[in-house]
Amino acid sequence: MLVLGIETSCDETAAAVVDGRGEILADVVLSQLEEHRPFGGVVPEIAARAHLSHIDRLVAEAMRRAGAGFADLDAVAATGGPGLIGGVIVGVMTGKALALAAGKPFLAINHLEGHALTARLAHGIDFPYLLLLVSGGHCQLLAVEGVGKYTRLGTTIDDAAGEAFDKVAKMAGLGYPGGPAVEKAAAAGDAGRFVLPRPMKGRPGCDFSFSGLKNAARLLIESLPAPLSAQDAADVAAAFQLAVAESVADRTRRAIARFKADWPAGRHLVVAGGVAANSLLRGTLVRIGNETGLEFLAPPLGLCTDNAAMIAWAGIERLWLGLVDGLDFAPRPRWPLDPGAAKAGAKA
Ligand code: KG4
Ligand code: ZN
Repeated sequence: MLVLGIETSCDETAAAVVDGRGEILADVVLSQLEEHRPFGGVVPEIAARAHLSHIDRLVAEAMRRAGAGFADLDAVAATGGPGLIGGVIVGVMTGKALALAAGKPFLAINHLEGHALTARLAHGIDFPYLLLLVSGGHCQLLAVEGVGKYTRLGTTIDDAAGEAFDKVAKMAGLGYPGGPAVEKAAAAGDAGRFVLPRPMKGRPGCDFSFSGLKNAARLLIESLPAPLSAQDAADVAAAFQLAVAESVADRTRRAIARFKADWPAGRHLVVAGGVAANSLLRGTLVRIGNETGLEFLAPPLGLCTDNAAMIAWAGIERLWLGLVDGLDFAPRPRWPLDPGAAKAGAKA
């Protein structure tokens, strides 16, 4: 089994070729970081145009590295949503065109399903497991029961964790992207000098919230002499990072309690998304895993952040089950994994 995956839903243009044993034969990712840096965030129109400029070349490069021709493929899989619609359209159109030209099935993959199934590609684990997805666009806790079978235990009611990192970094003058900048600054900071709120801590359920914390960080920054000294910025970064880690820890502990009650066969706590690069958060999750008896697994960083190998792998898992899509598939800006959550009208 050999599948080409295409990912264009945010600010990474990516193509990958993966086989049925989970071997990644090619994994090409082009980050648009430099295009968006002047704006301090992802600009959808710029993203869509950049995907369009680069996707053909990246697909050709992935096929070359894999040593495969289109005739060797069993299917073409592309992210069908959720994401910035301009980019998703570019990926879906490219995927459909290649599938049609090569006479292969087309698979529209939910980007979140790509993240959710990565632990099976990276670690070969069995269902069910608990997933914490923390990225720039998403912040969710999901019980992953099988392909297409997800129960969302919690989601953010406002911002995603990565988004909060990016905004706070901008306000503190730490640069873009914010997560790595905050982590670096925090290393020289005193996390105890300022105390920021731990959003949702102790509340029932497993939802997240970061806008209040972001606002508290803004007020703190405004109360300090401008422009911030390097030490003030470092102390703010350390306080903010600790507040995020403690908030995520609290929510994850609650989700684990529910997961263990409802899915007693589950053995793993898995993390995905760019914020999973944060060492304080990782250390906290390892500790929670040890305390609760779940093994904590973090796929290699390149598979945690947006990539096309996860899309190709989700395509393989779906193909095994005979789940293919028609060429009439319409790109979806919103596409929650959990139909129950969709009915509740929550954000994807
Ligand atoms: O998964 P990702 O590459 O893209 C999507 O959002 O889908 O995640 C990017 C996010 C950004 O918000 C970035 O600031 C955050 O992950 N991030 C981090 C770190 N590295 C990246 N956040 C905290 N600490 C980090 N070391
Ligand atoms: Zn993502």
